[in-house]
Amino acid sequence: MTDFSPQYSVNSGFMRKSVIRELLKLTQKPDIISFAGGLPSPDTFPADDLAKAAAEVFASCPAKALQYGTTEGDPDLVRELIAYEERHGTVASASELLVTSASQQALDLIPRIFIDPGDYAIAGRPTYIGAIQALQAYQGRVLGVPFSPEGDGFDFDELERIYASAIAAGARVKYIYVIPDFQNPTGICWSLEKRRAILEFALRERLFIVEDAPYREIRFKGAQLPSIYQLDQESGGGHVIGLKTFSKILAPGTRVGWIMAREDLIDKLVTAKQAMDLCTSPFTQAWLAAYLRNYDIENVVARTRALYASKRDFMLERLEADMPEADGLTWTKPEGGLFLWISLPPGADTDAMFYRAIERKVAYVVGSAFYFDRPELNSMRINFSYSSFNQIEEGICRLSEVVAAELRK
Ligand SMILES: Cc1ncc(COP(=O)(O)O)c(C=O)c1O
Repeated sequence: MTDFSPQYSVNSGFMRKSVIRELLKLTQKPDIISFAGGLPSPDTFPADDLAKAAAEVFASCPAKALQYGTTEGDPDLVRELIAYEERHGTVASASELLVTSASQQALDLIPRIFIDPGDYAIAGRPTYIGAIQALQAYQGRVLGVPFSPEGDGFDFDELERIYASAIAAGARVKYIYVIPDFQNPTGICWSLEKRRAILEFALRERLFIVEDAPYREIRFKGAQLPSIYQLDQESGGGHVIGLKTFSKILAPGTRVGWIMAREDLIDKLVTAKQAMDLCTSPFTQAWLAAYLRNYDIENVVARTRALYASKRDFMLERLEADMPEADGLTWTKPEGGLFLWISLPPGADTDAMFYRAIERKVAYVVGSAFYFDRPELNSMRINFSYSSFNQIEEGICRLSEVVAAELRK
């Protein structure tokens, strides 16, 4: 055993462990009903078809699948992704697309090419913890914008106010990060007006928009709205960096996603990715290309939607039945995605309540985890895709008791 103490970089000191991962360790005991993870239901994974697609790769192109590949991505998979996007109303081309090791890699690549220490990205308050962590690793900061009470996107008065005062104080703002379709953690879906408005704001301020859309296809209710990427394409395009992933439409174990962006940005991202992993697993890419060629991913998504819609409805029904009546106790009723967001009255503390919930054998993610700074303490994220109907029934009953006890304090 050496007695060297590691001389870590300044940057590494800015890296933060995911609170979620830490808390998840507490929630993994078998008798705990966990609404904490962001896990898709394994019942949606088309394992047999994926096995056949893997066998086809070994039978037809083992040399390619087991060799290094290009950083940009396997041309066969890129072709399939362009076709997939076209079926969903987005025009993509090979030079404007980069295959990534799922969206989390994209969330790391983007600050890597944009952020100098102290630079800002605009993002929601709250927002996805993985995006905050990636930004922190480059000493970036979040200019946090609250959502409107209607739950249809940013509060634009606040956006203008916060942005103007940051610029007046000399802040360097590099891009806007949004998750317009069924946001993690709140489940909020942006209205068409607000999608247009954020694009207008971005054009006016000459900022790129990073549109992270892992849940876009998982809509159970209402009509699909155009993505901000699509709205931008209508007027020439080039201002939005679109992030997509197989994690919620097929299986997160694939660890494959894709970025769509202007050619020069893709070029820069390719250079950044080269130093990270050379290329996304060629075997996995060939496997997904074979799967997309031979099977119907839209059918998997349709089944996923139907399953999650019924779980979401059941969870809302149980919340309605079990939660105490209290002013300020509300929850979102998302039209898609995997999560809903429960707000308790001001003064409630879901961080402290978490340990009582664990004692009662139910788990959620503390709302405070989704804030870059000045965390709000009276909310929590709960997932409805993973638990069984029985677990949802029992888990919401336990959670409601814990909430009722918190409100009596
Ligand atoms: C908003 C958002 N972006 C990105 C990711 C990362 O997804 P991936 O599995 O594609 O890395 C997640 C995962 O939950 C997410 O919720």
